[in-house]
This record gives sequence, C-alpha cells and structure tokens, in this order.
Amino acid sequence: MCKKIVILNGSPRPKGNTSALAKAFKEGVESAGHTVTEFFLGAMDIHGCKGCFGGHSSRDCPCVQQDDMMQIYPAVKACDVVVLASPLYYWTISGPLKTALDRLFALEEGDGNLLRGNGKSAALLMAAEGHGFGDAVAYYDHLLEHLRWKNLGHVLAGGNMDAGDIQGKVELQQAYDLGKSL
Ligand SMILES: Cc1cc2nc3c(=O)[nH]c(=O)nc-3n(C[C@H](O)[C@H](O)[C@H](O)COP(=O)(O)O)c2cc1C
Repeated sequence: MCKKIVILNGSPRPKGNTSALAKAFKEGVESAGHTVTEFFLGAMDIHGCKGCFGGHSSRDCPCVQQDDMMQIYPAVKACDVVVLASPLYYWTISGPLKTALDRLFALEEGDGNLLRGNGKSAALLMAAEGHGFGDAVAYYDHLLEHLRWKNLGHVLAGGNMDAGDIQGKVELQQAYDLGKSL
C-alpha cells in the first residue's frame, strides 16, 4: 500500500544536518514506493498560536489565522506518517517546528478531533552538536502519547555543528533505512 508521508523540517538551514537526514529519509521512503511531502518551515509564513481556542477542525482552514499552515493542514490530515525533523536548540526542538505543532492544535478543536489517532504514525529526525537529546525525545514521546500516534523510530545525530558535518556518517544510512522500512 502506498503511504503518504509528511516531513515537518524545522531547521533554518536548507543544506544543514537536519535537511541531510530528511533527504536520506525521503530517498528511503521513495525507494519503498511511498510518497513524501517535505515542508521547510523556516521558509514559510507561519505565525504563533494565539491561544484563542477558536479552531474548527472540519473547516478548510481550521485555524482563525490564515497563513502558510493552510498548506500543512490538508497534508497532515491526509497523511499516514508525520516526521518531525529538527536541529536540537537548547535541548529541544527548534522554534519553527514547535510553532507549527502548536498550530496543528486547531485540528483537535471544534467539530471532532481530526489530529488524534486516525491510524497515524510518526518518526523523529534530529541533529545536534552534542548528544543531549533526552528532553526532545521526552517531548516527542509525550506528544505521541497524547496524539495516539505510533512511534516508528528516531534518528538522533550528535556530533554535528556546522552544516555538512553529518556527511558520510552512519545516521544518514539509518535515516534512509527508517524511511525504507515504512
Ligand atoms: C540557537 C541554537 C541552539 C542550539 N542548542 C544546542 C543544544 O542545546 N545542544 C546541542 O548539542 N547543540 C545545539 N545547537 C547546535 C545545533 O543543534 C547544530 O549546529 C545542528 O547541527 C544544527 O542542525 P542544522 O544543520 O539542521 O541546522 C544549537 C544551535 C543553535 C543555533
């Protein structure tokens, strides 16, 4: 069965280490015959959640704000797997990824919860200078528990500071293999 995969890439660096993980993952996914859409969040116009609790999940734009999240809502609603890809910033995911995740809350509001459950799965791809991924993984685990999404796995690539440091490292193969395994 052909699956639909959405990658939410929260790195501001298109040629950075997270993007290299996302690229390898994507190649694995495509080699298995699935389709993948990557959103490079840093290049999109996505505003922070206003906390108004005014969302309506069944609307075309479930949020009161109409910005580039309008591209992401239908893709997430229709997909089988959501991949969170991010550099480690101060022990957690980056701002652009957190902002997009907060905005997905609109799909939980109003006319039924269109985000939680629905047979979805998720994976986590991260790059960092060090290896302090614990808080980010704990956040991801809590999020998936709340959303009732199945965890398909993590690739956590420590030891990467500058863009391109990840080249030639085993984590790229791990990301490819994870993508291929879907
Ligand atoms: C604002 C900021 C915060 C960071 N915080 C951490 C951190 O807490 N732990 C760590 O190991 N690396 C940290 N880093 C380093 C990045 O995670 C690292 O450079 C990573 O490879 C960037 O991924 P990218 O190439 O996908 O942008 C930080 C970098 C920036 C710019």
